[in-house]
Amino acid sequence: MKLEKLFSVKDKTVLITGGSRGIGEMIAEGFIANGSKVYITSRKGSDVRETAERLRERYGGFCKAFSSDISNVNGIEGLYAEFNKNEDHLDVLINNAGAVWGEPLESFSEVGWDKVMDLNVKTIFFMIQKFLPMLKKNAKQDSKTRVINIGSIDGINTPYYENYSYSVAKAAVHKLTKVLSARLISDNIICNAIAPGPFPSKMLGSAVEHDYSIISKKNPSSRVGRPEDIAGLAIFLASKASEYTIGEVVSCDGGLVASAGHDLTND
Ligand SMILES: NC(=O)c1ccc[n+]([C@@H]2O[C@H](COP(=O)([O-])OP(=O)(O)OC[C@H]3O[C@@H](n4cnc5c(N)ncnc54)[C@H](OP(=O)(O)O)[C@@H]3O)[C@@H](O)[C@H]2O)c1
Repeated sequence: MKLEKLFSVKDKTVLITGGSRGIGEMIAEGFIANGSKVYITSRKGSDVRETAERLRERYGGFCKAFSSDISNVNGIEGLYAEFNKNEDHLDVLINNAGAVWGEPLESFSEVGWDKVMDLNVKTIFFMIQKFLPMLKKNAKQDSKTRVINIGSIDGINTPYYENYSYSVAKAAVHKLTKVLSARLISDNIICNAIAPGPFPSKMLGSAVEHDYSIISKKNPSSRVGRPEDIAGLAIFLASKASEYTIGEVVSCDGGLVASAGHDLTND
C-alpha cells in the first residue's frame, strides 16, 4: 500500500478534548493540515474558538470549537449533545484534556486528588462510554475507528515533581487503555495511548516557569517535544498503518523512559 493511503487521515472526523492549547492544539494542527474534519473542546469558549479560527486560517480546513467542562458526566453529555447536532459518527476520539496538581506530601490536598483523578481518568472512561455509538457507526473489520488516550511518562517513570495524584492517574490511563482496548476491539474500535514526555504548554510551563532549558538538557534528545513529534504519532495511531497495534502505550519523550536510571545531567 502506498504511503499516502497507509498514513492517511483525510476526511476523518476527529474529536480532540483540550484542543484549545498545548498538546491538544499540536495534535489538532497535524490532523487539520492533513485533511481531517476536526472538532476541538475546552472549558473556555473564547480560547477554543480562537484556536479553531487560527487553525482554519492557517490550513483552510475544517475546525469547529465546543466549550464544556468535561470533568463530570453532565459536561460530557453537554459536549455529546453539541457534537450530535453536527455529526452522526466519529472516526477518532482523542482524550487529551488533563490537569496536574503539585504539592508537597505533607500538605497534598483532597481536591488535588479529586480534580486530577476526575478529569484524567474518570472523564476518559465516560467519554468513551458516551461516544461509543458514534465510534461504532462507521467501524468495520477492515476500517476500524480509533480512541487515543493521552497518558504521560509520569505514569511510567517516577516523576521529578511532587505530583502524586497525577502520576498515579496517568498510570491508570495506561491501564484503562489496555482494559478498554480488549473490549473495544470486538466493536472494531482500536484503543491506544500516547505517553508524552515534556512538551511546551501551559501545564508544563507553569511547573518550570516557562524555562525549558534544564528539561531540554536532561533529555536524551537534548530538546523538548515539537508539534510534529506528537502529531506524527497521533496520526499513525489514527491511520491504516496502526490497524494491528492495539492496547499499546507508546512513549513520545525523546528517550526518557528508555534511559530511566541513567544520569543524563552531565553537569
Ligand atoms: N505538556 C507536557 O509536557 C505533557 C507531558 C505528559 C503528558 N501531558 C498530557 O497532555 C495532555 C495535554 O496537556 P498540556 O500540557 O497540553 O496541558 P494544557 O496546556 O494545560 O492544556 C490542557 C487542555 O485541557 C483543557 N481542559 C482543562 N480542564 C478541562 C476540563 N475540566 N474540561 C474540558 N477541558 C479542560 C484546557 O482548556 P481550558 O482550561 O479552557 O478548559 C486545555 O485545552 C494532558 O492530558 C497532560 O496530562 C502533557
